[in-house]
Amino acid sequence: MKYDVRQLRLLSNDEIADGIFDMRLEYGADELPVSCGQFAHILVPSKTLRRPISVCDASDGVLRLVYQVKGEGTRILSEMKPGGTVDVLAPLGNGFRLKKGVRYALVGGGIGTPPMLYTAKLCDSPLVITGFRSKELVILQEDLKAAGAECVLCTDDGSAGKRGFVTDILRERAGDYDEVLACGPTPMLKAVAALCGELSKPCQISLEERMACGIGACLVCAVKIRENGEEIMKHVCKDGPVFDAREVVFNG
Ligand SMILES: Cc1cc2nc3c(=O)[nH]c(=O)nc-3n(C[C@H](O)[C@H](O)[C@H](O)COP(=O)(O)OP(=O)(O)OC[C@H]3O[C@@H](n4cnc5c(N)ncnc54)[C@H](O)[C@@H]3O)c2cc1C
Ligand code: FES
Repeated sequence: MKYDVRQLRLLSNDEIADGIFDMRLEYGADELPVSCGQFAHILVPSKTLRRPISVCDASDGVLRLVYQVKGEGTRILSEMKPGGTVDVLAPLGNGFRLKKGVRYALVGGGIGTPPMLYTAKLCDSPLVITGFRSKELVILQEDLKAAGAECVLCTDDGSAGKRGFVTDILRERAGDYDEVLACGPTPMLKAVAALCGELSKPCQISLEERMACGIGACLVCAVKIRENGEEIMKHVCKDGPVFDAREVVFNG
């Protein structure tokens, strides 16, 4: 899919949970050429390297990005005011591959939840299981329900939804679904991939790596992938971020 750089008008940039911001950018009247699981590479004022943020939604001419303040770059982003413009390189990467007639169970862990909103919109009545450390970090539940998803919320400490991990729910419910799509922290992805392997359930996972160029030119985001019995290096930005869970070689 073709990407380009655009200066997009910032419509809003609100804090929706502790340190988590919802940025909406006006994309223009034309349809957004974005598939679910792709990402946008955002130029942060005064920083050389762009920051990758998943497409949370791309409906009605608005590009929505939901991000957590982690360091200097995302802090500067969180201080940007509506009315200004944001320099966006998008859409990048290969997202989730969806097929018609397939029943999908989606799994989002923490700040891996945002791409599951646009993905849920493109699936037919999906199950969306999301997990957060505690209630202060819970996001997007109403949006997911409005997208037609059945939502199951888990928190590690039981302060909202069910106490426990997304994999506990996935184990109970996976039998009703054909394929699993997941995005979240690496330990969660590893657990989801292992469970899907055990249950012989197809699974696609979206990986996160530190990035620089975002377009396959610098090797910063290399990960080990198993292909035809051999381990080779691939780029998360260009070949992913979404990979078949069976192909990913997790470290440790
Ligand atoms: C494909 C992709 C999609 C992403 N989507 C989202 C999203 O939708 N919402 C969101 O909040 N974040 C997302 N991230 C992570 C986000 O890019 C980083 O949190 C951000 O770049 C940190 O920038 P910073 O300048 O604030 O922090 P830095 O000062 O650069 O780093 C602060 C901390 O964040 C960690 N970090 C930096 N870059 C990454 C990274 N790429 N992945 C994981 N940890 C990182 C560092 O190790 C450090 O601990 C995504 C990352 C990738 C690769
Ligand atoms: S970030 Fe440069 S190759 Fe992926």
